[in-house]
Amino acid sequence: MSIALPVMPSQFAEAPSRPVAAPPNAKRPGRLIDSHGRTIRDLRLSVTDRCNYRCVYCMDPDFRYMPKQQLLSLSEYVTVARVCASLGIQKLRITGGEPTLYPQLNELIAELGRLEFGDLAMTTNGSLLQHMPLEQWRRDGLHRITLSLDSLRPQRVAKITRTNTTAQTVVDAIHLARDAGFDPIKVNAVIMRGVNDDEIADFADFAREHAITIRLIEFMPLDSSRAWRRTDVVSADEMLQSITGRHKLVPLDRDDPSSTSLNFSFADGAAGRIGIIASVTRPFCGACSRLRITADGKVRPCLFSHKEWDLRPLLRGGATDDDIAGFIADSMWTKQAGHGIGSQDFEPPARTMSAIGG
Ligand code: 5AD
Ligand code: SF4
Repeated sequence: MSIALPVMPSQFAEAPSRPVAAPPNAKRPGRLIDSHGRTIRDLRLSVTDRCNYRCVYCMDPDFRYMPKQQLLSLSEYVTVARVCASLGIQKLRITGGEPTLYPQLNELIAELGRLEFGDLAMTTNGSLLQHMPLEQWRRDGLHRITLSLDSLRPQRVAKITRTNTTAQTVVDAIHLARDAGFDPIKVNAVIMRGVNDDEIADFADFAREHAITIRLIEFMPLDSSRAWRRTDVVSADEMLQSITGRHKLVPLDRDDPSSTSLNFSFADGAAGRIGIIASVTRPFCGACSRLRITADGKVRPCLFSHKEWDLRPLLRGGATDDDIAGFIADSMWTKQAGHGIGSQDFEPPARTMSAIGG
């Protein structure tokens, strides 16, 4: 059980000055651990809360962004990443909002590339990739790109994203990313009942056709409209049933024990893979190795944290890397055991997906 600290008032949960300190014997150089014995190796760094889409499961049309001056600067993001690397973080994923809207993304990728994470990846909606220097990113050390596509039907894509984008934009982005040397390419689809759950097997065909990994994600209560209902969630079991009605699948071993997805290849040897992210019906909290840092510099030990810890005063107040590392370690010590979406008293966090980072 994690200790419930007061929820902090403000647009989002505002951080108190300092998390409860982790016991000294819990602090090991180069290793970040929480009070439930999990080792934290995976950082999701959000670099903007802005987005050019308004996906129905994420952001309301009238969603209010954070004031620009609250967002971290390039050098502050780099400091955060450098300190996390010193704490044993091996994977860094750049997220948003939509990270391609971050004006200094190219410089950031170059700086993060120099930190030599084992895995440096980015999640993007793909809409602006044709304007991005993908080959330069690859040379600078970005390893992987994950795209988002929630329907293969033009009118539906428009309805879900509330833009006039089409699936072709993402198909073009797949080709651009592949030509630049990114491999494997993953495409995320959030499956919602009555919205796109009739396309699950079509997504499997899409994975085969384009030789990509399609990741079918259970809808989580992180939408800013607060419209999520448990009944809207299409379970991993239902998704599997839909696909196996058309294709025989072979389960694959998890490439990494903290991996969030159930992975499958096609029994007939076709290219492409399926990953199912069953965050709601089969939570993987016990093996979670993640830490999130928001674009405005809040440490969020869990996607569903009600408590977040503000790094900005340290970053702007002349703190040393050691001070920042200690603060992050103390923050992570408060990581909750699980999200508890299934429990009676579950409350979604005040901060919603686009302001957290996926
Ligand atoms: N539930 C599940 N996935 C979501 N994403 C955004 N909001 C939600 C939600 N409510 C996904 C996006 C993107 C990734 C960053 O997070 O589809 O692929
Ligand atoms: Fe933008 Fe991603 Fe949220 Fe869609 S899910 S509105 S693309 S941040």
